[in-house]
Formats: sequence, C-alpha cells, structure tokens
Amino acid sequence: MKEIAIRDLSINPMTMFGEEWCLAAAGNEANGYNAMTIAWGHLGTTWDRYTPKGKIMIPTAVVYIRPQRYTKEFFDREDLFTICSFAGKYKKALGYMGTHSGRDGDKVAKAGLTPVFAENTTYFAQASRVFICRKRYHAPLREEGFLDAHLLKENYPQHDYHEMYIGEILKVLEA
Ligand SMILES: Cc1cc2nc3c(=O)[nH]c(=O)nc-3n(C[C@H](O)[C@H](O)[C@H](O)COP(=O)(O)O)c2cc1C
Repeated sequence: MKEIAIRDLSINPMTMFGEEWCLAAAGNEANGYNAMTIAWGHLGTTWDRYTPKGKIMIPTAVVYIRPQRYTKEFFDREDLFTICSFAGKYKKALGYMGTHSGRDGDKVAKAGLTPVFAENTTYFAQASRVFICRKRYHAPLREEGFLDAHLLKENYPQHDYHEMYIGEILKVLEA
C-alpha cells in the first residue's frame, strides 16, 4: 500500500459507506484488535488548526458504533482507528464481519481476511483503501437531539444510541 495525498482522493463517501461498506478497526498486535463492518460514516472536515504556516481545516472521518459492539471496547481504549474499503469481491467477507462478533472467535480468519499490524494500528491486507485516523472526539448520540421521531423509533427501539467517533485522518493508503 502506498500513501496518497488527501486532496488526490477520488471516492464517493456515500457509496463507499452506504453501498460498498467498510471495516472499522482499532487495536494492535500486542494488545489485541477487533474490526466490524460499518455502513454509516462521513468523510469531510471538522475544526481549524492554527500552525506556523497558517490555518488548516482538519480532515476528518466519523463512524457510529452501537454500545454493544465488541469493537467499541477497542475504539474506547485506543488513540487510533482505521477505516478500510474493499473491492466488490470482498462483500461476502464484510457481510461476515458484520454479522459475527469478535467476542465469539477469530472472525477475521473465518472471513478470509489478513490483519496488517502497522502504523501503530491495524488494517487489512485485502483493503483497497485505508484511512488511518486519530480519535479527536467521542460522544453518544442523545435521544433529546433527535428532531425526527420516526428516525428514533425505527433505529433505536432498544434506546441503544450509537456513539460517534470523529477521527483526524492522518494518512490515506491505497493498494
Ligand atoms: C452492512 C452492515 C453495516 C453495519 N454498519 C454498522 C454501523 O455503522 N455501526 C454499528 O454499530 N454496527 C454496524 N453493523 C453491525 C456490526 O458490524 C455487527 O454488529 C458486528 O457483528 C459487530 O462485531 P463486533 O461485536 O466484533 O464488534 C453493520 C453490519 C452490517 C452487516
């Protein structure tokens, strides 16, 4: 994989998350890691940073994780996380990663994926693109914040509100 400049990205985040799906992973070889399929997410910019060269807008990725996911324990523990996107032939593997928990066994091996322990985090050898992110903000979605009662009813009958993690995109790697 080689690093590409963020400004050279040519992707559609809506289809990347919503149709093709991604894996969100956190952890490392020494302390363990876990990953799960995500279809909700954002790529964009959040906040300014003032540097000696001037103000920059911070490139960010947002993922949403329900409290019961095993992956959440790793997101909460680690400073870094990754988002991996894959070619269509891996959709079945992503389906598996999104319907099995790492609590119950080595779902990564069963999905036929290979973890890569690098950059102080974990991504996957089969990924076509990897976003390496540093956690900058984490908070649960609040029931009071919802302005559409239907969304609440349809998505949260158990009141298990997703928690959002906003990560600064440190690096983008492409196969
Ligand atoms: C297509 C698809 C998209 C998903 N998107 C999300 C998501 O954005 N956020 C989330 O919390 N769970 C999502 N899930 C569910 C988790 O991937 C699933 O519960 C997974 O088994 C959790 O694994 P873990 O317990 O090893 O963390 C999705 C599942 C699928 C199949």
